[in-house]
Amino acid sequence: MSHLLLLLPSATYRAKDFLDAAARLDADVVVASDHRQALAGALGDRALRVDLRRPEAAAQAIVELAQRTPLDAVVAVDEQGVLVAALAAERLGLAHNPPEAVAVARDKAAMRDAFAAANLPQPEFRPVSGDEAQVASLAGEVGFPCVVKPVSLSASRGVIRADTPREAEVAATRIREILRQAGEDPAGLLLVERYIPGAEVAVEGMLRAGELELVAVFDKPDPLEGPYFEETIYVTPSRLPTSTLTTIGRLTSEAVAALGLVEGPIHAELRVDSGRAWLLELAARSIGGLCSRSLRFGLGVSFEELILRRALGLSLDRQTREEAASGVMMLPIPRAGVLQELGGQDAALAVAGVTGLELSIAPGKRVKPLPEGGRYLGFLFARGETAVGVEQALRVAHSRLDVVIVEPCGG
Ligand SMILES: Nc1ncnc2c1ncn2[C@@H]1O[C@H](COP(=O)(O)OP(=O)(O)O)[C@@H](O)[C@H]1O
Ligand SMILES: [Mg+2]
Repeated sequence: MSHLLLLLPSATYRAKDFLDAAARLDADVVVASDHRQALAGALGDRALRVDLRRPEAAAQAIVELAQRTPLDAVVAVDEQGVLVAALAAERLGLAHNPPEAVAVARDKAAMRDAFAAANLPQPEFRPVSGDEAQVASLAGEVGFPCVVKPVSLSASRGVIRADTPREAEVAATRIREILRQAGEDPAGLLLVERYIPGAEVAVEGMLRAGELELVAVFDKPDPLEGPYFEETIYVTPSRLPTSTLTTIGRLTSEAVAALGLVEGPIHAELRVDSGRAWLLELAARSIGGLCSRSLRFGLGVSFEELILRRALGLSLDRQTREEAASGVMMLPIPRAGVLQELGGQDAALAVAGVTGLELSIAPGKRVKPLPEGGRYLGFLFARGETAVGVEQALRVAHSRLDVVIVEPCGG
């Protein structure tokens, strides 16, 4: 039997998918989390409370646990746990990414420096530690339109386009407040980047001892032009020309090498403008949210199972991805308030090609749109013969949903 430690951050959407995959592999699972609820049901040495904001201490706690119960792999299901996983796996002599490489990938400013050192195409950028006036002045150096973002958040939280120096200042003030609300240092480093127009893709890949295998390239067919960058539809296979996809694959490999990542899943985002590709970012994890459910492999294997098999050194025979076109729509939060209901679910599910709808926020909960919010209402899935058909099915299904958000009581 394999012994697996899963790092489940409190904000993850993916606990169930990883636990299901572990069950299919008949692996013995220890859950480590910063969230009491994620540990519910797991007893004794099957559950470990860790503080993911203190990676060294969290890794040390895992190493101590491994002295009592054997571990064959330490896997982070999401961004927040990747550094802890790398540190712990290194100390335990298990397959891992160099912790320094993971730390760089988690810091948008350090990542830009690593890409610059490798001469990779990316937006002109400036890190900013100063006040709003300095943000505006450095924005002027990279040129307008620009994008102002925190170096430490994800899911487009706090990422704001600015077309003028004044907008850059306002964006900086707003991002500092978002950082404060996220429990991060409001005076933390920001990044100002030149805005790259064009189409955006997400690349899923799997690393094995430094070799990158591309798993999928997703188009993001909704224009992402700001001022906030709400992710919606992802569809694979990409409809970009083969030559552009070749460039995207090559740049992704070069970005992986520039960061020094060698093991496990990676998720990259690039933009393509008049045939030229630019790196936006690359993370040492798989695709976020429930989006991985749009990827299926031979014999009903999920992406999570593939990730766990790789980490545990189990056979990967016959794991080619299904060829059908496939897509997912992250359901955006249209405005702030209290989610009352999501109507029209049956009508949405009745659309030909739609294969599932999963709500990720319970009715009665407060919701916030971007740039402050960092959650999706839910996920809509579709499959079909063509990418065009899948995109259409998602759009029709989404138009049938009725998101009811009301004012919170007493305000
Ligand atoms: N320099 C840029 N040019 C154009 N769009 C950008 C730029 N930086 C970010 N974006 C948009 O904002 C989104 C989120 O930014 P990103 O840097 O990927 O942060 P996050 O970690 O929150 O995903 C990107 O997917 C892209 O659509
Ligand atoms: Mg991103």
